[in-house]
Amino acid sequence: MITEEQSSQAVAEILGRYRREKKNLIPLLQEVQTRVGYLPRKALQEIADFLKMSDVEVWGVATFYNQFRFIPLGKYHTVVCMGTACHLAGGRLILEALERELGIKVGETAEDGNFSLERVACIGCCMLAPVAVIGDKIHPKMTPFKVEEALIPYRQEAGGELREGKSRGKS
Ligand code: FES
Repeated sequence: MITEEQSSQAVAEILGRYRREKKNLIPLLQEVQTRVGYLPRKALQEIADFLKMSDVEVWGVATFYNQFRFIPLGKYHTVVCMGTACHLAGGRLILEALERELGIKVGETAEDGNFSLERVACIGCCMLAPVAVIGDKIHPKMTPFKVEEALIPYRQEAGGELREGKSRGKS
């Protein structure tokens, strides 16, 4: 995970390439999120200062669009496809099963930082519907009953790391 210092450096570098114009707010938010992975509160403040806008104004714009995240993604970012083919094949049930199993809702990251959950539009493999992606692995033809089993290797890996003292702090 990116450290606070790395995040500040990235934000400073990005701001250095933009003019101080309000119309640059959305592109700035997008670029910072791409580099940092989410929009830390400090970055929002730095953007507000740069554009000479109030924190509230920047926060209001950022929270208006659901493309922006305000917490880091989990180590194993989990997405459930809700495109037409996956939706018709039971994508909603997969999503609900993952919410139950992970103890988080869509758009959230688990407190231990291991899993985050999102819904996405078609990811381009409709023949395998319904599809979930955990970490970087596609899980085709998912069913709610396969969810717990699909999570086992990730939980084992995360558990192993914790035992080895490699737990990750959230920023
Ligand atoms: S609709 Fe899910 S992969 Fe296309």
